Amino acid sequence: MKTACRQATRSGKTLGFVPTMGALHEGHLSLVRAAKARCNVTAVSIFVNPLQFAPTEDLAKYPRPLERDAAMLEQLGVDLLFLPTADEMYPASQVSVQRKDANLGHQSETCVVVEGLSNKLDGASRPGHFRGVATVVTKLFEIVRPDCAFFGQKDAAQVAVLRKLVNDLDMDVGIVVCPIVREKDGLAMSSRNVYLTPEQRQQSLVLQRSLMRVQTLVDQGERNAAKLIVAGKQVIAEEPAARLDYFAVVDPHTLDPVADITRGALVAVAAYFGTTRLIDNIVLASP
Ligand code: PAJ
Repeated sequence: MKTACRQATRSGKTLGFVPTMGALHEGHLSLVRAAKARCNVTAVSIFVNPLQFAPTEDLAKYPRPLERDAAMLEQLGVDLLFLPTADEMYPASQVSVQRKDANLGHQSETCVVVEGLSNKLDGASRPGHFRGVATVVTKLFEIVRPDCAFFGQKDAAQVAVLRKLVNDLDMDVGIVVCPIVREKDGLAMSSRNVYLTPEQRQQSLVLQRSLMRVQTLVDQGERNAAKLIVAGKQVIAEEPAARLDYFAVVDPHTLDPVADITRGALVAVAAYFGTTRLIDNIVLASP
């Protein structure tokens, strides 16, 4: 992959990179289209990164429709597809302590940690998750060395962590963030939506409803974050099957709570439907 990427950019062509875990949907494809529109050469990686899954999470059952994914990317005209195995990314020789647990089978002795930010929002509910993300993205960036890398606003906390990573480590990569792509009924697209039963699929619409309620209140002049959170949580509570993880109004860069939204804010929500954890968010512009 290194050789192919270096060859592709040798003549001064720009390289756009879209890292994914596969099970591709329109959200992923929108990133690929953005990369193609902006760069001469496009690379995509599909790697279900064991480092960012906790032992209790869905690493083993994460969908891996590889042939379908590859066909979709080929049709879009992606130039390079990187499909490393977990053993290639995290060779056993690097492993200090071999754990029997499947999810701990791959470890990296060298990790990248964005302190602080990694423990907020999804990082608070998923300890170690952003350490796994920052580590694999650093590795992928070093392998591909893209001019620009494309990420979805869907994972707003991930965007904050990766922006900080690139900034703090002086990486020569432009981070391009693309809008959330939704199903017709408003559910944010996610590879994990396939886990939902038809009932849960219906229940999951409460996420976007709660965000729309906040947006409506803001449009009506509400600026107080605490009040917006109460209103958002109320909507979630109207769907008893949803188990709220967090409903937060934060600064999009620091992920710290804000008292009011006069300088803009990220409104982010996470909830479980059965064992499936879904996230969604909106960005409030400075009024
Ligand atoms: P994955 O969940 O496969 O997502 C890959 C990229 O697609 C991420 O940047 C994500 O934000 C974006 N994406 C997912 N759903 C989207 C939607 N509905 N609209 C717009 N963009 C969407 O995020 C990861 O993989 C991993 O953490 C990764 C960055 C690849 C590191 O392993």
